[in-house]
Amino acid sequence: MFISFEGIDGSGKSTQARRLADRLRGMGHGVVLTREPGGSPGAEEIRKLVLEGDPDRWSAETEILLFTAARRDHLERTIQPALEAGQIVICDRFADSTRMYQGISRGDLRGTVDALHELMIGRDPDLTVLIDMDPEKGLSRAKARQTAEERFEDFGLELQRRMRAGFLALAEEFAPRFAVIDGDAAPEVVAEAVFAAVEARLP
Ligand code: TYD
Repeated sequence: MFISFEGIDGSGKSTQARRLADRLRGMGHGVVLTREPGGSPGAEEIRKLVLEGDPDRWSAETEILLFTAARRDHLERTIQPALEAGQIVICDRFADSTRMYQGISRGDLRGTVDALHELMIGRDPDLTVLIDMDPEKGLSRAKARQTAEERFEDFGLELQRRMRAGFLALAEEFAPRFAVIDGDAAPEVVAEAVFAAVEARLP
């Protein structure tokens, strides 16, 4: 089973992904917890290229190519082998992040994102957990832990609102694989809701 977590910056999805991995391991499942951009040695190198440095370093189109290149390597070297070995893969962000961040925020490039996805990736997760939350809360959380990788997190409230709406629209577009979880609730409550969504889909 391949599970991705998505949400705006500061939504708490990374914490929730970790909690889910711990719980599934506790039940005896083999779990690979991974993230994007990154998740394989090559993709981690590409991560540095896209998340650090001058925000205008890459055009929107080049950025799509870099994220897709990272994803392809991650898929080949980490995700596919784990799935073939019968493990559960939990990925903090996957292709929906590219649909959102590159497809929407830097112009109308969703068609380009989709074409490359079809050609180079060709699959989506079995389940995508969208941690949906108030953008103001998300932004203040994201600001509280700024790092060198802040370039994507400096977009302001208006963009965060658009991102939230965009993720919710993706959840409708791909309704069968999405579980939308209320991320404004307490972390334990969110974790329970996430687990319920996963349990319902476990083979
Ligand atoms: P990260 O440090 O992993 O933060 P977060 O906890 O918000 O996931 O940063 C990843 C950043 O990269 C995040 O701001 C979203 C962005 N991103 C894209 O723009 N496109 C993508 O395809 C992916 C996977 C991430």
